Amino acid sequence: DTAAHQHAFDTAVAAEERIEPRDWMPDAYRATLVRQIAQHAHSEIIGMQPEANWITRAPSLRRKAILMAKVQDEAGHGLYLYSAAETLGTSREELLDKLHSGRQKYSSIFNYPTLTWADVGAIGWLVDGAAITNQVPLCRCSYGPYARAMVRICKEESFHQRQGYELLLALSQGTPEQHAMAQDAVDRWWWPSLMMFGPPDDTSQHSAQSMEWKIKRHSNDELRQRFVDIAVPQAESLGLTLPDPDLRWNEERGHHDFGAIDWTEFKEVLKGNGPCNEQRITQRRRAHDEGAWVREAAAAHAARHAGDTGR
Ligand code: ACO
Repeated sequence: DTAAHQHAFDTAVAAEERIEPRDWMPDAYRATLVRQIAQHAHSEIIGMQPEANWITRAPSLRRKAILMAKVQDEAGHGLYLYSAAETLGTSREELLDKLHSGRQKYSSIFNYPTLTWADVGAIGWLVDGAAITNQVPLCRCSYGPYARAMVRICKEESFHQRQGYELLLALSQGTPEQHAMAQDAVDRWWWPSLMMFGPPDDTSQHSAQSMEWKIKRHSNDELRQRFVDIAVPQAESLGLTLPDPDLRWNEERGHHDFGAIDWTEFKEVLKGNGPCNEQRITQRRRAHDEGAWVREAAAAHAARHAGDTGR
């Protein structure tokens, strides 16, 4: 009976126990998880595109090997996350279909172009840095499979963040042209990175409920502030400037104040009007179509194998 199930669920969440796939859960909890995990998985997969753009043009064999490994990690993250979503009773096919038809979102950040090699560094430092800030608390998410996937993903993201920082440091300390290229990349990626955390708390429609369910542990604005506080000293040691004249330490709050975010730009990107939305989704659909023969061959192989063993 539902009341007893609901009570058991509420008690488990309150006691910091994990909800597992076979446990009863409210329909809305399941739907919220599918929404968030699918969006997260799609972001990992679409996020391969802006960086893959630079694999063939990496400046050295060492840089190329690092970047290839990183982009492969992102594919792996997408796959763990699709598996986590599947434990909630949706198929990967259905999730991909929703991505391809625009019914599920992916992160706004991946709709910006990677114009120079320094963008690979800025993505690692800022975008992966923002991702870790958001994802470390998700290791304590109330839904077991999502929380466990996050542990490994966060470890790999830390490596990504360090490689981005190291790449930018090399450029920043290089020739004046290289330094300028690093600064230009930071100028372009800073504000979109702040937008990754989602809308401000007073307009975040899902936050209150997701925090009650312990899916989210901190609000969008709390995590955004944490990220700014981490990034400021790192920018200093990189010798690069964050493009915000209003950025300053606020002794009273014990945090950095920062300038106003352009939420109109964020909304436009979510509506599909960012600089690369069309390119990203077109490329994703093409990759899916071109992979059809692999899926067919794998399914045929699985069916034949099932026949062989009488299953
Ligand atoms: N890009 C695209 N959509 C966003 C973004 C963003 N940066 N931020 C918020 N949104 C969407 C939400 O998905 C929601 O839309 P929906 O109702 O259609 O799903 C709407 O804006 C309102 O936002 P919130 O109510 O604040 O949504 P939510 O509580 O889900 O919080 C957040 C958004 C913080 C992104 C949360 O979903 C989350 O933590 N997700 C997991 C992390 C993740 O997806 N990271 C992907 C980028 S990192 C990487 O891949 C390297």
